[in-house]
Amino acid sequence: MRIAVGSDHAGFALKSLLADHLTAAGHEVIDHGTSTADVSVDYPLYGHAVAESVASGQAERGLCVCGTGIGIGIAANKVRGIRAAVVHDSTTALLARSHNDANVLCLGERTTGSAEAVDAVDTFFSTVFAEGRHQRRIDQIAAYDAGIGVPDPANASDDMAPRASPETERHQPTP
Ligand code: RB5
Repeated sequence: MRIAVGSDHAGFALKSLLADHLTAAGHEVIDHGTSTADVSVDYPLYGHAVAESVASGQAERGLCVCGTGIGIGIAANKVRGIRAAVVHDSTTALLARSHNDANVLCLGERTTGSAEAVDAVDTFFSTVFAEGRHQRRIDQIAAYDAGIGVPDPANASDDMAPRASPETERHQPTP
């Protein structure tokens, strides 16, 4: 898979570790910077660069790292077609892919340890989107992105299938 990566100074060490890990696993990594932890830089520049790379098709997916993953994720989500998810572990990585079809993974170097981050990356880049009822929700986000309008939640269709218990959903996400 072709994966665009980017970070600010606060995410540089974790981004470098994860980029090396992805390369060793056979992925093609496109690094949009930054290139040192020693110079303070602005995370929106790198979030936008990664997101534009994914949105344009240059990369299939993206990986963003800042101190928390939050700022760079907010920036990435401003780019049309991007679903960037701040993830903390392999469970949130699994759900971000299977339920939300997230195309950019965001991690925080100051909030997630490197072993958990590697697990999250491995899960994120190997989990397929579950489709089913989740596809309708992704389509709603895409319609909003395309400026088609804001549907009235009062007119929303409901799932007819009974929900799994929250406990089951947490451990075995249903399609
Ligand atoms: C940089 O100090 C820090 O604010 C940034 O990396 C990030 O955590 C913002 O969300």
